[in-house]
Amino acid sequence: MAQLWGGRFTKETDQAVYDFNASILFDQKLLRQDIAGSTAHAKMLGACGILTAEETEAIVNGLADILHDVESGTLEISSRFEDVHSFVEATLTERIGEPGKKLHTGRSRNDQVALDMRLYCRDAADEIKELLLELLRAIHNRMKETTEVFMPGFTHLQKAQPVTFAHHIGAYFEMFRRDYGRILDLRARMNECPLGAGALAGTTYPLDREMTASLLGFDCPTRNSMDSVSDRDYVIELLSALALIHMHLSRFSEEIILWNSNEYRFIEMDDGFSTGSSIMPQKKNPDIAELVRGKTGRVYGALMSMLTTMKGIPLAYNKDMQEDKELTFDAIETTKACLPLFTGMFETMKLNPEVMKRSAMLGFTNATDAADYLVRKGVPFRDAHGVIGRLVLYCIDKGCAIEDLSLEELKRISPVFEDDLYDAISLETCVEKRNTIGAPGKTAMQKVIEENEAFLSACEK
Ligand code: ARG
Repeated sequence: MAQLWGGRFTKETDQAVYDFNASILFDQKLLRQDIAGSTAHAKMLGACGILTAEETEAIVNGLADILHDVESGTLEISSRFEDVHSFVEATLTERIGEPGKKLHTGRSRNDQVALDMRLYCRDAADEIKELLLELLRAIHNRMKETTEVFMPGFTHLQKAQPVTFAHHIGAYFEMFRRDYGRILDLRARMNECPLGAGALAGTTYPLDREMTASLLGFDCPTRNSMDSVSDRDYVIELLSALALIHMHLSRFSEEIILWNSNEYRFIEMDDGFSTGSSIMPQKKNPDIAELVRGKTGRVYGALMSMLTTMKGIPLAYNKDMQEDKELTFDAIETTKACLPLFTGMFETMKLNPEVMKRSAMLGFTNATDAADYLVRKGVPFRDAHGVIGRLVLYCIDKGCAIEDLSLEELKRISPVFEDDLYDAISLETCVEKRNTIGAPGKTAMQKVIEENEAFLSACEK
C-alpha cells in the first residue's frame, strides 16, 4: 500500500481496511479525465506564479507521458495505490522529482474527484448524444419508406385502428428525440468547473478558477465550494436520462420481439442480429432485443442506488460518494453498447408489409370508420356503435372481415349501408382520412417527416 498521509498516524492502516477503502480497481477509468484536470491545474498554478515556468512544464509533460505510457501499455496502473489520483501524483513524482510534489498545491482530492466525474459524465453525454442521433437517423430513414405500409395500431394489445409503420415508429422518434434533448439539457447544467473548491472551503492561494474552467471547456467555475465537492446531482441526472433511454429501448425491443414472433411475422430479424438454439434447429431468436430489454434493469438499478446513496449525506464530502463510480460507469457502458446494437438490428430487420396489412384488415381495425360512415348518413353515433358491434359479431361468426360481406348482408343489419361503404372502410381510406396534426395520414406524416429532417440536419451542424 502506498498512502498519501502518514504524519498524524502512529500505526499502519490495516490491510483489509486499506483494501476496502481503495477505489483504484475501478476509478482507473478516470485516468484521462484526471490527467486533463491536473494539466489544467498545473498550467493555472504556473500562470498565477505559484509554480515556476520550468516546474509547470515538467509537470505538464510528465502528465502527458503518463497518459501515453498507460495507453500504450508500457505503464501499468498498480493496485498498490489507493486511487487513480494517488497513482498519477506518485508516478509523476517518481519520474520528475520535486515539481511533482507541488502539483497538489491548492487542491484536494475532493475537488479533484468531483472534477473527474464531471468530465467523465460530460464525455459520456457527448458520446451518447451521437449514438442517439444515429438511431434517430435510422428511424427517420425507415419512416420515409413506410408511410404506406399499413399495420394495425393496438390498445390493450388488441387491434384497434389502422396506422402505418411510419406512424408507429414515428412515436419512437419522438421519444428518442426527447431523450436527445434531455442529454443536451443536463450537459449544459453540469458544465461548471468544481476545481478550486479545495477540500470544501476553497483555498488561500490566489487561484484563477476562471482559467481552469475555461481550459477544461467549462462555461464557468461552480459558485459554492461546499456544493462543488458534495453534490452528485449531475450523475443522477445523467443516470435518469439513461434510464429513460432504456425504458424507450426496452419498449421498442419488446415490440420488435413480438413482431418477429411466429404469430405476428410483421418483421424478420436479420440473420446477423439473430441467434440460434443449441437443441432446436428451427429457432432464430431475437437475443439482442431481449438483452437490450433486460439490461434496462441494471440501468434503473444504477439510478436507484445513486439516489439512495446520496440521500441523507451531510455536507460536505463523505466517502459514501465513492460509490458513485462503478454503477455510473456500468450504466454508461451499457447504454453505449445497447444503442448502436439496437440501431443495427433495427436498420437490418426486414418488414413483411403484406402480413401487416392482412393483420390490420382481419382485425376489424376499420370498425370505428364503419361507425363514422353511418354517422355521416345521419345515424347518431351511439346507435351506429351498436349496429357495427352487431356487424362485427356476425363477421366473427362467419370468420370474415366487414368488407367481405355482400351489400345484401349489410343491409340486413342496417338499411343505411350503400355501395360506397367499401371505399369508406378500406384501409387506405381509414388511414388517409386521418390528417390532423400527429395522425397517420400521409399528408400529416409528410409534414412530420420534413420537420424531423430539419431537426436532424440542425443537429449535424
Ligand atoms: N476515491 C475518492 C472518491 O472517489 C476520492 C476522494 C477522496 N477524498 C477523501 N477525502 N478521502 O470519492
